[in-house]
Amino acid sequence: MYTVEIQSIRPNEFLSVDGPASIRVIDGKLYVLGAEYGPGSSFTVMRGRRIIMKSLGDSKIDAVLGPDGKIERIDGTNEVIDIWDHELSKIHLRNSVIVVLGAMDVGKTTVTTMLVNKGVREGLKVGVIDGDPGQNDIGPPTTISASVATGFITHLTQLRNLRSIFVKTTSIEYAWDYVLSSISKLVNELRHNYNADMVVINTDGWVSEPTAVRFKLEMVKRVGADYAIVIRRGDEINDLLKELMSTARNTIVLPSPPNARVRDRDDRKIRREMGYSKYLMPSRELTINLREKPIVNLPLFNGLKYDNYIMRLIRKKS
Ligand SMILES: Nc1ncnc2c1ncn2[C@@H]1O[C@H](COP(=O)(O)OP(=O)(O)OP(=O)(O)O)[C@@H](O)[C@H]1O
Ligand SMILES: [Mg+2]
Repeated sequence: MYTVEIQSIRPNEFLSVDGPASIRVIDGKLYVLGAEYGPGSSFTVMRGRRIIMKSLGDSKIDAVLGPDGKIERIDGTNEVIDIWDHELSKIHLRNSVIVVLGAMDVGKTTVTTMLVNKGVREGLKVGVIDGDPGQNDIGPPTTISASVATGFITHLTQLRNLRSIFVKTTSIEYAWDYVLSSISKLVNELRHNYNADMVVINTDGWVSEPTAVRFKLEMVKRVGADYAIVIRRGDEINDLLKELMSTARNTIVLPSPPNARVRDRDDRKIRREMGYSKYLMPSRELTINLREKPIVNLPLFNGLKYDNYIMRLIRKKS
């Protein structure tokens, strides 16, 4: 773990951050996933994820990077966040139900996060549903889960799980009808029991087969979606897009990021196992007075030198 300070970031300059990382703004302003971070504010980028940020002024930041964490200035020529921001700004968020669709690794979860932050920025209570029982970021795998966001986030995993419906499998092909009724049920609950002002639905990446197209069209219809956001990479989603365009619904097509991190099967499996263990063996916060109970071989203090920022973080917790 080490800290780097990045000075003189010019307006409209882009940086790419690979997690695990914690970014703190010292001066200026950063635009990150639909939210703005000013001096003194900070956010985290999780392990295995990449987030692109854009400087909105002359900025200075520091970044604490964990193992495999990386931060670099990038040429923004092919970057999609301005296009995403522009297209998503067309949405009238209040009272809307929005479904985010696309194949695997195209940026569905990232767009969902951006919509959450845009809603929060307008002062709305944002209902969020993770409709992917394979890689669920809000609740455990095998569920459709829901939450309400009231503050800015960088990952859906930061949201508190309010309600989960067990769909018995991580393979949506075998349970899509039940997944549909579960998502519709949660939309109603978020609106009526939790007073959500808008609802965003993140979906799974099963989109190309005819049954998948039917499932997604049915979802858009059953939840009464006002907007369908379609992230396009190649022609994977053309059949679904054609059908959506022929309905009167608002369909917004976004390009997928050219440099997205792709997760292989093993990576997805590990994440799913971590998803289960988070619920079966949740971590607990412990406060230990190290003067009374010294811990031998604590890796934090094994001869490593830390700078002041990290020492402040450790002291805050001990
Ligand atoms: N503009 C971008 N540039 C580069 N990488 C990005 C960008 N936006 C998101 N990513 C990264 O691309 C990867 C895939 O994004 P994301 O998880 O949002 O896709 P997804 O469609 O939800 O994937 P899944 O099918 O696994 O649910 C993530 O590591 C994410 O951090
Ligand atoms: Mg996702």
